[in-house]
Amino acid sequence: MLPQLFTPSLGRLIGAGLLACSLTTLTACSKSEDPAQQKQIEEPPAATADQPQKDAAPAEKTADAEPKSGVDYHSFANTDDYRVKHLDLDLTADFDNKVLKGEAILDIQRLTQKNPSLILDTRDLDIKAVRAGVGNNLKDVKFSLGKTDPHLGTPLKIELPKGANRVAIQYQTSPDASGVQWLEPQQTAGKKHPFLFTQAQAIHARSFIPLQDSPQVRMTYKATIRTPKELLAVMSANNDPETEKDGVYEFDMPQPIPSYLIALGIGNLEFKPMGERTGVYAEPELLDASAKEFEDTEDMLEVTEENYGPYRWDRYDLLILPPSFPFGGMENPRLSFITPTVIAGDKSLVALIAHELAHSWSGNLVTNASWRDLWLNEGFTTYLTNRIMQFVYGDERYNMEMALGYDDLQADLNDRPDKDEIMAIDMRGRDPDEVFSNIPYEKGSLFLYELEQKVGRENFDKFLMDYFNNFAFQSITTEDFLKYLDETLLKQYPDKLSRERINQWVFEPGIPEGAPHPQSDAFSKIDPVRQQWLDGKIKASDIDTKGWTFHQWKYFLDGMPEKLSDEQLKELDSTFKLTQSKNNEVAFSWLMIAVRNNYAPANARLEEFLVGIGRNKFVRPLYRAMMENGMEDEAKRIFEKAKPGYHPLTVKVNSKVIYGD
Ligand code: BES
Ligand code: ZN
Repeated sequence: MLPQLFTPSLGRLIGAGLLACSLTTLTACSKSEDPAQQKQIEEPPAATADQPQKDAAPAEKTADAEPKSGVDYHSFANTDDYRVKHLDLDLTADFDNKVLKGEAILDIQRLTQKNPSLILDTRDLDIKAVRAGVGNNLKDVKFSLGKTDPHLGTPLKIELPKGANRVAIQYQTSPDASGVQWLEPQQTAGKKHPFLFTQAQAIHARSFIPLQDSPQVRMTYKATIRTPKELLAVMSANNDPETEKDGVYEFDMPQPIPSYLIALGIGNLEFKPMGERTGVYAEPELLDASAKEFEDTEDMLEVTEENYGPYRWDRYDLLILPPSFPFGGMENPRLSFITPTVIAGDKSLVALIAHELAHSWSGNLVTNASWRDLWLNEGFTTYLTNRIMQFVYGDERYNMEMALGYDDLQADLNDRPDKDEIMAIDMRGRDPDEVFSNIPYEKGSLFLYELEQKVGRENFDKFLMDYFNNFAFQSITTEDFLKYLDETLLKQYPDKLSRERINQWVFEPGIPEGAPHPQSDAFSKIDPVRQQWLDGKIKASDIDTKGWTFHQWKYFLDGMPEKLSDEQLKELDSTFKLTQSKNNEVAFSWLMIAVRNNYAPANARLEEFLVGIGRNKFVRPLYRAMMENGMEDEAKRIFEKAKPGYHPLTVKVNSKVIYGD
């Protein structure tokens, strides 16, 4: 059946339930008084990320100066009318055509006596047919796609028969789906088999499944995934380490999760256990090195349970992706997705694992209700990451991780407008991918660190454990958290905490005066040495770098002034072999210095790095620095060369850096 056509603006009105009127005659329309219905009606904002157009944002949603708590500005779904409770997926991965095709069956709960259309989120999906009804009695129903918004995708409006509680959608994805990357064998470690992975956070699940793509909505899911026989599929669900490769894989995720945590990986994968509940999936070429690098994962899991409550997701495994993965890690439940760029050989970058594991409590168990509340996920997780690192590796490592986080925060505070320094950030009319920063991570974590300092560590740990239990498997807003704080810590410690101070952290820019400033002795030793070298009082070879950890190298390099002389660059490079560094974080810090100073001997490594790695944390600042330091032509040339291998997200955000569109 073909989608029914309707004019986009009218379609949006009808689809959203603002006007109750028939699809064929527009004469008898009456305006809905229900504000919950009005939530969906407005034209989506046509703003760019850098210049949000206030006027273009939804009328009802922009009427107030502040975004409304509990409103998800990044979904078309009419979640006040219907809630998806369970998803059944049956998808075939067609590597020749780079499409996923099959069916998604949604079990829906009705929240209204009325029978409005069901609105789902989609992006670039080819919807073939929709059936709906009760139980297994499903019949073809009318559906239509509304106007496409550049950030949000396209609403899918489905006419439901009265009482229907199930919808089956037959569809296929686009080869350019924003949340799927199809890799050629050449882009993998083994170079023989293709690879596929999805990345749904923040609003990309809709590019591979039609659903209510809002973190307020939690659903269980089951999936059947069909692949070429020689490949293995894994998901954010119950992966069985014993699974044999046969091309058909069944999954079950029995705990309700938000859509951004639905994830799929397919490749020439093998499994290696690291502990009783932990293991790694990777291409065979990376399997042993990964299992060795991340062998402390089981310990991390245990200390986190001891301090913050049970791990409620059964197994915790890692999936090691090819280097084009646009993030360091992604906390897909039961199976974190991990960049291979952290396999440094010395466990120096394993805070990433602690971070993704910590999300099993902060994020996956207690989830931000909208992307405005992202700090509830990332701030709590960053705080927990540091604590896990301390439990497993001790105080010195903890102090260094904390101090580096603080420096990252300072760098971001220098770099963005006041309104984007607010933890409960106004995201209206903006693409979450473009607003990404350290603020929700490091400011959120510093806020929690201040609370810890004020009430005492033991008390604060108890508070966190209770918080996770209290909100387990719920999606909450910033205001829900503040209310909980009012009823717990603020009540218990009225002499130590004030709501005024807390509001300042959450709703005002910058760092409140008197906030803690984490420091590390291992770093304070480095400042005078760096200065002496900069002043020409000592040679680079006089610096005693024996035993320096990656953290100290990073601190040493990131603390260099903007400009260095050619002689200084050459001396650093020849003494410490920085251009050849195997540690990707050290290489990145050095390449940033090289680009800022047009240090040509690093250019070959720069190109290799940018073409070989798609992790945005590295790629975006490097392109930006190139554009600002007279390397525009090089940036364009390398970007065009690397582009076919980049993830769609990496292409999107860096095209903006390079071409400004
Ligand atoms: N959930 C995030 C990644 C993310 C955030 C994707 C927002 C899309 C939108 C993940 O847990 C994360 O924070 N990754 C960091 C880890 C780092 C802070 C240790 C990364 O990828 O660099
Ligand atoms: Zn995170």
